[in-house]
Amino acid sequence: MFAVINHVKGTYSDRDEFIERIVDWVWEPDASQTLMPGALRRFGVMPKLGYDSDQVRLIAEYLFDDGPPLPDWYVERYRQMHGRDPVR
Ligand code: HEM
Repeated sequence: MFAVINHVKGTYSDRDEFIERIVDWVWEPDASQTLMPGALRRFGVMPKLGYDSDQVRLIAEYLFDDGPPLPDWYVERYRQMHGRDPVR
């Protein structure tokens, strides 16, 4: 989830756009639209979950506003892979 947060925030830094992107994505994950090509190659596109979009919106708000803390190992790995700090 911290990887999801910084990939999505990197493109959708506006709170409302971030939330819409996550709600739309979880409703219909679309491999051709992924912001995480590395994860897509390794794990495939995420499953369609069928969750109620109002509940996904609450999750997306939490992810934008608070979210889980970034562990040091992730920050280090992200720097190595992308040459910059992750978006938080
Ligand atoms: C409420 C639960 C979940 C939320 C809100 C969520 C949200 C997201 C988002 C926003 C992305 C990035 C999409 C983008 O490129 O813009 C993503 C990617 C991904 N998710 Fe989920 N996800 C959830 C549950 C799951 C579950 C249950 C699985 C696995 C069983 C999963 C596996 C993946 C994988 C493998 C990717 C990266 C590959 C891809 O682009 O699909 N996710 N998720």
